[in-house]
Amino acid sequence: MNIFSLEDFSILEINNILDLAEEFKNGKKVDYNGKKIIANLFFEPSTRTHYSFDTAALRLGCKTLNFDSVNSSLKKGESLYDTVKTFESFGSDALVIRATENEYYKNFSGKINIPILNAGDGTGNHPSQSLLDLLTIRQEFGKFDGLKIAIVGDIKHSRVAHSNIKVMRRLGMEVFVSGPEEYREDEYDFVPLDEIIDKVDIIMLLRIQHERHESLMKLSCDEYNKLYGLNLERVNKMKPNAIIMHPAPFNRNVELTDDTVECDKSRIFKQIENGVFVRMALINMALENK
Ligand code: CP
Repeated sequence: MNIFSLEDFSILEINNILDLAEEFKNGKKVDYNGKKIIANLFFEPSTRTHYSFDTAALRLGCKTLNFDSVNSSLKKGESLYDTVKTFESFGSDALVIRATENEYYKNFSGKINIPILNAGDGTGNHPSQSLLDLLTIRQEFGKFDGLKIAIVGDIKHSRVAHSNIKVMRRLGMEVFVSGPEEYREDEYDFVPLDEIIDKVDIIMLLRIQHERHESLMKLSCDEYNKLYGLNLERVNKMKPNAIIMHPAPFNRNVELTDDTVECDKSRIFKQIENGVFVRMALINMALENK
């Protein structure tokens, strides 16, 4: 079983993954006794996704290989495909891959014969992030259908936004998008944050992805926050049960002020905690070929 994009999974299958993640959260034990090797191949920087996949694998009793892209033969011109094929040849049982190129896995078909778990491809997909976001939402509200979410920020460059908008709409959620016009894509109408702040159940802030921009953002951090970010003034306008989410890493005092990061409504660190359980479920499913 590969996990490239949640578009390859039915709603029932997505809920089944969340159920399994919930079982792991509640103490389900699976122990591969060091007999399985998970290779984490991160060709782009990562803290949460990399090390929560690593934690998940270790908790399942797997061994892990953590590819060091900086000191690797990438520097000698080795390609992504040849690196991936090399880790398959070592006898890895599954590969976790993050790469800069959208759909880097497209030319792997029929060539790589062990499961691949996509840990993020360029601006395309981030399925394990979407699953941990969904788990967090389901724990909070017990459902998806009818919930309203505002996804705010650098939509254009965000694989989290792209993954979430698609899957959340399939699940019956009403998804609003908002942020600076320069980060809008043609297919989305942006709604000013202040028009929806008091109507949505979830505000999901996104990081400005400077590393994917051709030119520097024109706004100062303060200006960005006043126009598009979350601060206590806006938090106070949110519905009583509404929550704040962010895939992280976050830029304090840009997309959200320092005093909102860990406020009562924030579920940001809960998302990170859930990431381990979701990734345990994905590794378990991949190894059992479910
Ligand atoms: N949310 C997320 O993908 O974070 P990392 O880039 O640190 O993995």
